[in-house]
Amino acid sequence: MPLTVVILAAGKGKRMRSDLPKVLQPLAGRPLLAHVLDRARELEPEAICVVHGHGADAVRAACPGNDLGWRLQARQRGTAHAVAQALPVIPADHRVLVLFGDVPLIGAGTLRDLCAKAESADLVLLTATLPDATGYGRILRDADGGVSGIVEDADATDEQRLIRETNAGVMVAAACDLRRWIAGLSNDNAQQEYYLPDVVALAVAEGARVAAVEVDDPDEVLGINDKSQLADVERSYQRAQAQKLVEAGATLADPARVDVRGEVSVEADVFIDVGAVFEGEVTLAAGVRIGPNCTIRDSRLGPDTVVHPNTVVDGVTAGAACELGPFARLRPGTELDERVRIGNFVEIKNSRIGSGTKINHLSYVGDATVGRGVNIGAGTITCNYDGAAKHQTTIGDKAFIGSGVMLIAPVEVGAGATIGAGSTISKDAPADQLTVARARQAEIRGWQRPAKKPR
Ligand code: UD1
Ligand code: CA
Repeated sequence: MPLTVVILAAGKGKRMRSDLPKVLQPLAGRPLLAHVLDRARELEPEAICVVHGHGADAVRAACPGNDLGWRLQARQRGTAHAVAQALPVIPADHRVLVLFGDVPLIGAGTLRDLCAKAESADLVLLTATLPDATGYGRILRDADGGVSGIVEDADATDEQRLIRETNAGVMVAAACDLRRWIAGLSNDNAQQEYYLPDVVALAVAEGARVAAVEVDDPDEVLGINDKSQLADVERSYQRAQAQKLVEAGATLADPARVDVRGEVSVEADVFIDVGAVFEGEVTLAAGVRIGPNCTIRDSRLGPDTVVHPNTVVDGVTAGAACELGPFARLRPGTELDERVRIGNFVEIKNSRIGSGTKINHLSYVGDATVGRGVNIGAGTITCNYDGAAKHQTTIGDKAFIGSGVMLIAPVEVGAGATIGAGSTISKDAPADQLTVARARQAEIRGWQRPAKKPR
């Protein structure tokens, strides 16, 4: 049977106490819904249908994709009512997999198992035995152990609340069956909502084959209703990311103190100290060392490159054995050859830096091409912006730029040139020569320091 995945994402998430719609709350820097969409896409279904409502425009904008069909649920009248908004566009011969937009850690493997199970059952639901089942629907079983229904936390008796087997919210059934069951539901319950889990009792009453599959890892089905659960799920996600890094051979100073908000690939003998945050796509070659409290975003670092503490590396390609930081900021478009040294309080943007070049202290280098073996002294600035446009600075191989030099772009410093400290360079400086552009020092004879008048 062809598969349609329906994702429920219309709720406001009152319990989050936030203006942001619940499914846009970030997990590892991306909306919850984006994670659920990833899982849905892994199944390569015939169609994906997202039921949205609260913050509809924002939700659609945050999750682009031509493969998505959007259905509007103007008023949130319950999870079954949400599914009912999708059913009119789903062919009757499709199998429907329902996912919740607030259950983001669900594994594609688990979903494949459920769909496989649906070959021999009319309704398949996913269950989890949780240490604390508060807030979840509880699985009711008859004397023979068969599933007889689901009772919501808000409607459960004290005795039923002791049940720790919970409904994960994931369900698989044929579109035509779902349509019939949902049509038979009432909203006579504590929340006056049409509950999707209520279809289970109807299916059982009809004599349909109902199968419950218990999830292997209960963390997969953690639902997010409030900020505390959001934090729990974030930690669970990050634990798994850290585990992947360790399995790939990285050494983490503390697996609980690294955050991956994207994809990190590591080669052998990478070391990552505490407080590292990775965003976007990051590649760390063999022997890379990341010091404490560094943020690395969308960058590739070559073998044995070291990032010293408190350094921000964003949109950078670095060759082998570079040293960055401490306290450096490397911005998008920075390309470093091998053995480049970028020191403390140095900012680099949109620049190519040749091998062995050193920019060790307190400098700004933007829109520049810097050759090999160049030494840039403390406090050097490429004045690249005239208020309207950005201009290029070019520095040849083995040039030596003294401290405190202003390079007013567009400007070129020739290979082997030396620029005297404190110079303001507004014209090209020739190769292999000393260029000095600063006021001469003068002594004023007989000058007297002003004295304060006695009071
Ligand atoms: C739901 C289940 C509960 C299960 C738990 C698992 C129901 C009635 N209860 O409870 O059995 O244990 O999830 O996490 O299904 N939504 C809509 N439209 C609506 C209502 C909800 O799109 O009218 C969406 C929400 O945005 C959310 C999802 O459906 O993504 C689940 O709704 P939520 O209100 O969080 O249900 P729970 O109380 O967590
Ligand atoms: Ca929920």
